[in-house]
Amino acid sequence: KERVFSGVQPTGNLHLGNYLGAIVKFVELQKTHDCIYCVVDLHAITVPQKPEELKSSIREVTAAFIASGVDPKQHIVFNQSQVCEHAELAWIFNCVARIGWLNRMTQFKEKAGKDRENASVGLYAYPCLMAADILVYRATHVPVGEDQKQHLELARDIAQKFNLDFGERIAALGHGDAFFPLPEPLIQGPAARVMSLRDGAKKMSKSDPSDYSRINLADDADIIAQKVRKAKTDPEPLPSEVEGLAKRPEAENLVGIFSALNGQTKLDVLRQFGGGNFSAFKSALVDLAVAKLGPIGAEMKRLKDDTDYIDKVLLDGASRAKVIARENLAAVKDILGFVR
Ligand code: TYM
Repeated sequence: KERVFSGVQPTGNLHLGNYLGAIVKFVELQKTHDCIYCVVDLHAITVPQKPEELKSSIREVTAAFIASGVDPKQHIVFNQSQVCEHAELAWIFNCVARIGWLNRMTQFKEKAGKDRENASVGLYAYPCLMAADILVYRATHVPVGEDQKQHLELARDIAQKFNLDFGERIAALGHGDAFFPLPEPLIQGPAARVMSLRDGAKKMSKSDPSDYSRINLADDADIIAQKVRKAKTDPEPLPSEVEGLAKRPEAENLVGIFSALNGQTKLDVLRQFGGGNFSAFKSALVDLAVAKLGPIGAEMKRLKDDTDYIDKVLLDGASRAKVIARENLAAVKDILGFVR
């Protein structure tokens, strides 16, 4: 049976990239799949976090899911550290994955920077925990932005190696020829990689020091308008064909954002705005972004302060997630030969 899993880090500044690259898809997939959406606090502490800010970010991401249309009753919304099976399976995967595999992870290299000796071991082992998140539910589909592609490939490699290494036990215990499915990344559409508003060569990110580089889900209409107006562009008018966006990363990014927000193709957008200058297009983009994001931001702020409700959602989600995770982890322990 098909099952969707995805996660978002509670590290502040949820932005348009997180929304269009991931959360919008979470909402769509609810129509066709059983979905599990996780606030990944164990991932967040791979770099230093202030405890009070972490707590508030966990609630904020939960509020963002719900405000965007994720349904915590029909599906499962929870916080990673409340289901200890994630960390347990991650340890087992630390022993399945190879150092050489992790050495190739580009995100570790970027995040660790020059002072790699001083990065946490958790930051290095991060992809094994991510594989555990997905596979502890034996999830088959994972909606993410383009930047998570390499981590998803690693999760598939881990699943495959586990299935091969323990193939005989897996078959003998009645699980057929594979215990873990190879999870499929769902990375699609014009917003799989939303770029910074200040630099079309950098992705929009929570950690960019300039707040003008991103539109946050919590931004109000005035701030959204300012940020879009200040967004970097080039002096040419917009093209009428998608090919005309090549080598114009800022134009391509804004057109991509417009099309994703409006559920149109880039060509549809260019049919309307091609040949015109950026100022008319930007005004339309402000109106569209405010119309789509304004209500979500407002609902998010309201929900976030209702900590009783949010914490109840997370507790209920964790207890339902745990039922699935516990059963799968027990099977893994039997496969490995642990005594239970
Ligand atoms: P995180 O918290 O950095 O981002 C959450 C989701 O947002 C997507 N995203 C983007 N999409 C398009 N354009 C952008 N500029 C952009 N920036 C972020 C991310 O791809 C992601 O889908 N490692 C993950 C969290 C994680 C996870 C998992 C995801 C932990 N375990 C298991 C899936 C399955 C992360 O750091 O995402």
